[in-house]
Amino acid sequence: MVKMKIKLLPQRITLKIALLYSAVFSFVLISLNASVLYTLKYYLIYQSMEQVSTQAEVIKAKLSEAKQNMDGALKDTAFSGIPDENIYVKIFDSKGRLLYLSKKLERVAIPYNTNLEVPVKVDEFDKDLVYLNTVFKKGDATFYIQVIKDMKNEYAFLKLLFILMFFADGAGIFISFVTGYFVTKRALRPVDYMIKEVKDIDAKGLNKRLKVYGEEDELTRLAKTFNDMLDRLEESFARQNRFVSDASHELRTPISVIKGYIDMLDRWGKDDREVLEEGIKAIKKETLEMESLVEKLLFLAKGDDRSIKLERESFDLKEIAEEVVREIKLIYEGKNVSLKGENVRINADKKLIKEVLRILLDNAAKYTSKNGNIEIEIGSGDEAYIKVKDDGIGIPEEDLPYIFERFYRVDKARSKDTGGTGLGLSIAKWIVEEHGGVIGVKSEVGKGTEFTVMLPLINDSK
Ligand SMILES: Nc1ncnc2c1ncn2[C@@H]1O[C@H](COP(=O)(O)OP(=O)(O)O)[C@@H](O)[C@H]1O
Ligand SMILES: [Mg+2]
Repeated sequence: MVKMKIKLLPQRITLKIALLYSAVFSFVLISLNASVLYTLKYYLIYQSMEQVSTQAEVIKAKLSEAKQNMDGALKDTAFSGIPDENIYVKIFDSKGRLLYLSKKLERVAIPYNTNLEVPVKVDEFDKDLVYLNTVFKKGDATFYIQVIKDMKNEYAFLKLLFILMFFADGAGIFISFVTGYFVTKRALRPVDYMIKEVKDIDAKGLNKRLKVYGEEDELTRLAKTFNDMLDRLEESFARQNRFVSDASHELRTPISVIKGYIDMLDRWGKDDREVLEEGIKAIKKETLEMESLVEKLLFLAKGDDRSIKLERESFDLKEIAEEVVREIKLIYEGKNVSLKGENVRINADKKLIKEVLRILLDNAAKYTSKNGNIEIEIGSGDEAYIKVKDDGIGIPEEDLPYIFERFYRVDKARSKDTGGTGLGLSIAKWIVEEHGGVIGVKSEVGKGTEFTVMLPLINDSK
């Protein structure tokens, strides 16, 4: 059942298009033919009416020319010359007595003195007839002339035409459906091909692309769009892979350090109290670092799959900055940290904005000399801004574009003793952008670094 469905599916659009196409075609064909038949029928009726009128005129002319008395004239050979075998002439006197009958028309009885002088179409008596009743006066005598035309030839022709058209239409509709089906199928062949190609692409084969050939149309555009999507997928896949391998690498270092200390404790720590204390202290430090690393990784992973929801509230940026400054002063003694600017209220996730400040201040403190200067400025224009400026080692220009990338560190060797993972700025950037803001950096080696965060004052981002 399921299998059949899959097999039928690719043909369904073809069938639909072919049906639609032949339905439209049939409609046009049938209505054209119907109007031809209809017009022709009325044309033939009109022509028959002309014919009976002309015939009546001819008879009247002959009667008025006749020199003999009327009885003679009526029987005259003049009437034998009726050109159409389907035309019947009756002549009555004023009392309605039949004076003349050209030929007998079975089962037909049309009153002689109604609808005078207008041709009439009747379809009584199982026949299609056109007749004209007309009055003719000569001397004191009045005659009623009735000319009837039996349209059986015309109707036979119409019937034949109808039958012909019926079969021609049937054939036309059938042919239009069949050609419609094959033309559509042919036109949709690239879709079949695409389906096959796409089936071949899986997570491992993300480098495969659909071939885009032929001139630009909907299908080549579809293929291009699909390829673009694959580009993006491949890139994000590669980014994820890099992230996982970097993360594992980062975790391996503290684990091997811990293992080393455990070996040391195992061998000498049981008797030597000094070794024991050193080992425990080191393991504690590494564990804490690992914990913070794992927390950061989890944060970024959640950020990637959009499962972090901002909990917005209104708060004062400067108050938050004061709290973070106090924290930093406790951790890094001897730094000159100053905070200036105005009170700016924003509507944002307080915990996360505080984290941004922590990351920036932590860097400023880490990458300045022992009694380095750190300046924080809070203000607002169209947007709220935070500036964190230090007079530390600075960042080389060629590294500036990368410092917001995950795990990127300017000086890998030195960071061992400053203790860092290269995740701080990428987290800060994520938080700022999630708030609809931007983060930027200016730096000069040996002179110092300035980070600027801009945040929208009114929350219209999300
Ligand atoms: N204020 C600063 N002064 C000099 N270099 C900085 C500063 N802030 C960041 N950097 C550079 O950018 C890199 C990335 O920063 P970050 O993402 O916070 O990682 P880390 O864990 O190394 O601090 C740092 O390793 C450092 O080389
Ligand atoms: Mg940092």
